[in-house]
Amino acid sequence: MTVASIGYLRIAAQDTSAWMDFGTQVLGLMEAPREDAQGARFLRMDNHPFRFMVESGEQDRMLATGLEYRGKSDWQSVCDALSEAGHNVTTGSAEEAQRRCVSGYVSLQDPSGNTVELYYGRKLDYAPLNSPVGVKGFVTGDEYTGDMGFGHAVLPAPDMEATIAFYTELIGLAVCDDLYPPIPDSRVVFMHADNPRQHSLALYNQPHPAGVVHIMVEVETLDEVGLALDRVKKAGLPLLASLGRHVNDNMCSFYVLAPGGIAVEYGYDGLLVDWDSYTPTVSTEGDLWGHEYSFPGVND
Ligand SMILES: [Fe+2]
Repeated sequence: MTVASIGYLRIAAQDTSAWMDFGTQVLGLMEAPREDAQGARFLRMDNHPFRFMVESGEQDRMLATGLEYRGKSDWQSVCDALSEAGHNVTTGSAEEAQRRCVSGYVSLQDPSGNTVELYYGRKLDYAPLNSPVGVKGFVTGDEYTGDMGFGHAVLPAPDMEATIAFYTELIGLAVCDDLYPPIPDSRVVFMHADNPRQHSLALYNQPHPAGVVHIMVEVETLDEVGLALDRVKKAGLPLLASLGRHVNDNMCSFYVLAPGGIAVEYGYDGLLVDWDSYTPTVSTEGDLWGHEYSFPGVND
């Protein structure tokens, strides 16, 4: 696989201030003091200039997933292969690359209509995380693992087979688990990048109005997860899933709905994998315990 990591997300919010309050006061991320001509606001979690770009929109939804390559040559090879395969690849302007703090990027849609931005050369600023609620750190990699990205995202992929082929044969991710949960006609395919995080991107075979099924951020300890759960309750935000532990990435987490409805998984203890000795798995359960789901308006 040639994708190094899932580096950033662009998110549209009807109420960007509410999303930023959620990001800082509930998730514990830090607002990055970046000026943006188009009024976007930025959340950081580590030495990257931002991990989430929150833009004003008419609907709360995912705008784009940013995938990082290790250098221009890897990136160019993938861009060429995509063009040869007939995909409509748009090269980002220098100004737009600057907004994303990258040296160069292209954007395109996967076969299910999700926008991906492929980039190289992230411009780090090395400012330390200063969480407004005292989160000590987010798990995004260290000197041993290298960058593991911000966490993971699960994208809707109603055109499942073509979308799996797109990411594995052209983009440069590899399947690590093929999950058939005990829900009729449901399948989730988990894919990893070239770092030890068990999955960086997953595909769910159903449509989703938010353009994303959930995103995940990881903290270092169970106490940090518990403290976040306290902040969720204090903020009065709905839980999509109670505390539980997943199969495949072993993540111990809960799910909260951000203002506007995007689901965010908040966890710790995610599995790190040596891909040289890993055999992809097929699973029929999503959870070892917990994760009792509660869909607002459906079963509340
Ligand atoms: Fe997840």
